[in-house]
Amino acid sequence: MIPLVDLKVQYAALKPEIDAAMQRVLENTAFILGREVEEFEHAFAAYCGAQHAVGVASGTAALHLALLACGVEPGDEVITTPHTFIATAEAISHAGAHPVFVDIDPTTCNLDPALVEAAIGPRTRAIVPVHLYGRPADLDGFLEVARRHGLRVIEDAAQAHGARYKGRRVGTLGDAGCFSFYPAKNLGAYGDGGMVTTNDPEIAGRIRMLRDHGRKDKYAHQVFGYGERLDALQAAVLQVKLQHLDEWNDERRQAAQRYRSLLDGSPAVLPVDPGDAESVYHLFVIRVPERDRVLRELKLRGIGAGVHYPIPLHLQEACAYLGYRPGSFPHAEVVANEVLSLPLYPEISRSQQEEVAAVVRASVGNSRDGAHTGSPLPDARESD
Ligand SMILES: Cc1ncc(COP(=O)(O)O)c(C=O)c1O
Repeated sequence: MIPLVDLKVQYAALKPEIDAAMQRVLENTAFILGREVEEFEHAFAAYCGAQHAVGVASGTAALHLALLACGVEPGDEVITTPHTFIATAEAISHAGAHPVFVDIDPTTCNLDPALVEAAIGPRTRAIVPVHLYGRPADLDGFLEVARRHGLRVIEDAAQAHGARYKGRRVGTLGDAGCFSFYPAKNLGAYGDGGMVTTNDPEIAGRIRMLRDHGRKDKYAHQVFGYGERLDALQAAVLQVKLQHLDEWNDERRQAAQRYRSLLDGSPAVLPVDPGDAESVYHLFVIRVPERDRVLRELKLRGIGAGVHYPIPLHLQEACAYLGYRPGSFPHAEVVANEVLSLPLYPEISRSQQEEVAAVVRASVGNSRDGAHTGSPLPDARESD
């Protein structure tokens, strides 16, 4: 059995440190916010190179509160990608705004900055690029369009802790960066958790207030806020794990490199390493024809491959009210049928990767002769 992600092996390696950190919180009994959370916020801000970091309940809460703190209001429109986890769009709707989808660049699977401008209207307030699979989105493109139109840029960095864009950590280039500490993320808690990074003290202050019931102090509430705080047990675990993040990200990159050489020359389309950015390979996602058959063959051999994500958001039932239909975003639709995530975690061994690659080669080889360069894609600009 080769799992998609193995969290047990990481806990086994860090057990004494993690157990001691959790024990410390249990004995202090300060479970909500407090010193543990503050210390982790400082450490995470320093790690990212951000001036502020505010711990929140999840990545979804981070996006929700960042949108509110950036001034997104009911009836506004927020531009994002249809090829992401549903939480990106969900948070936009939690803020009372409408998600407006724009197609992706199929070679990166990230929102295409060249297509964003055409989707901007009078109610557009913000753009939410997602650094999907740990690969930085093309931030310069979004920042430039946003500057010309007076929009906010909120980075969804839920899958990209530590990734760099032109030398800077993601989450520090837009108005706010939103991180998830869902257990399987590159930096994962032992439950839910999230963080917003920002260089704007007003945004940081508003999120601190909103995450904790709109409090100014213990019994004075400035607005109706939310119960969306990071808890101390998670902060204590994350503080231990943060010390290892760079080493784990290096190991992920090495594992990605190994898959590249093991799959070299196979018909699978391999992820392209960004030239001016550094991916942290939250996922190693290949594209193959007849993806569902290849996935079944992997599963039959005990290999835990996954699909991120099989249904583009504009075709989800939850988004039906937005009025999109099949064909609205052709690149996202083709990619959703072909993406396949292979097992990848810092501790994965060469022999495990060889086994995965052998099954992929055998099953992809069955599905089509010759090199697969991706299905023919219509020009995204033709989509309506
Ligand atoms: C791209 C993306 N955005 C947002 C989220 C939401 O994070 P959480 O699950 O911590 O709420 C996730 C997590 O799965 C994600 O992958």
